[in-house]
Amino acid sequence: MDSAPSTTSAAVEFSVRLARTGLVLGVPHDRSIVEVLREAGVDVSTSCEAGLCATCKTRYLAGTPEHHDFILNDEERQRFVTICCARANSDVLVLDL
Ligand code: FES
Repeated sequence: MDSAPSTTSAAVEFSVRLARTGLVLGVPHDRSIVEVLREAGVDVSTSCEAGLCATCKTRYLAGTPEHHDFILNDEERQRFVTICCARANSDVLVLDL
């Protein structure tokens, strides 16, 4: 079966809001933030997509990220998130995008 590109039909685990445009996108449990952003036409740079390189490191402005990277230190994690692998523990994660 083809995987539908819609983010509205799958169960949304949390949402990301893009601070600069106000765009709100649901992130299902089986998709990454990067995948959802790209699907919506948002250009994001990635390399490893495994939490190893920080290419996708993005500032967040609100919400509680669940970090799954291997490179950010505790101080960086207060302000940045690697959107290739991070999830959120809050309903909404606001990204500086
Ligand atoms: S693309 Fe390498 S950490 Fe996200």
